[in-house]
Amino acid sequence: MMTATAKRTLSAEERGITLPLPFGWYVVEYGEDLAVGEVKAIRYFGKELVLWRGEDGQARMLDAYCRHLGAHLGHGGRVEGNAVVCPFHAWAYDERGTVVDIPYSKSIPPQVKRPCMRTWPVVERNRLIWAWYHPEGADPMWEVETLPEATDPSWSEWQRREWHVNVHIQDMAENGADTAHFRYTHGTADFPDQKTEFDGHVLRTLISAKMETPRGTVDGAIRAVSVGPGQSWTRFTGISETLLIAAVTPVDIDMVHVRFNFSQPKEQAEGPGARVAAAIIADVNKQLEQDKRIWEHKIYEPRPILCQGDGEIDRWRRFYSQFYAEPKREQAA
Ligand code: FES
Ligand SMILES: [Fe+2]
Repeated sequence: MMTATAKRTLSAEERGITLPLPFGWYVVEYGEDLAVGEVKAIRYFGKELVLWRGEDGQARMLDAYCRHLGAHLGHGGRVEGNAVVCPFHAWAYDERGTVVDIPYSKSIPPQVKRPCMRTWPVVERNRLIWAWYHPEGADPMWEVETLPEATDPSWSEWQRREWHVNVHIQDMAENGADTAHFRYTHGTADFPDQKTEFDGHVLRTLISAKMETPRGTVDGAIRAVSVGPGQSWTRFTGISETLLIAAVTPVDIDMVHVRFNFSQPKEQAEGPGARVAAAIIADVNKQLEQDKRIWEHKIYEPRPILCQGDGEIDRWRRFYSQFYAEPKREQAA
């Protein structure tokens, strides 16, 4: 008699995830989803966080727990001026984690009169809110790139897709360097012809690929750029111009939050080519679903056995290891 196997999610340790979290700029929210005066509890980088928008319109972020008696500032906290006010006893914090007001006390304890929490650099760009993560609190080492199409009214409103994927961020990112899987995981007609340029913290890839469309297979060019581990975008040209702003943010060591935002020139998205334009977006989303099944069940393999035809996985891992501040363990192959 067959017995069903009970399903259980393997721990990061069981999956061999020995990697730390890479530093960089990461999306923590859509700009339009955080109103002036709004406070949100969020979790990224293995930390509970509070995100708020001050009355001056600026987004700010702090570690979530109040230094007084440990309340979570994101659950019931409110905005006063540009500060976030704790829901428990109303201590007010600025974005450096300095207590600026205790309404019931004559004095502020000296320990919290200066910044008493970690400071999170936050910027808003391309209609997204970004936070700089570094495990040791180092200052940002590069800027978030501006994409003109993101705010260009002649480009269509974003089509958003979001996923939570149970995988370490490096294992997901390696997908782009893994040329052989396109054929077997995604069923592409060919292996993509791919040229990669490793340039400091920036990676540029040009892919000539066959794309499946309702009008048959067409030759397309795909230009993908990654700026550090958290910002990337892809421009598809050939049959239908499409911009994918892809943001992947670690939630925990074995969980990422993926935000895919697609935009196309309006005349194309709404014109006679609309069906083809929509098919390109559907195809990219389908690829993510196909990869997700692999990612969520794979282990991290620190010393993969590679063969000719595997692409530049080794070189890519060396590139990616620059984003780890911790002493190198096994992240580079
Ligand atoms: S726990 Fe935040 S003010 Fe007391
Ligand atoms: Fe893939």
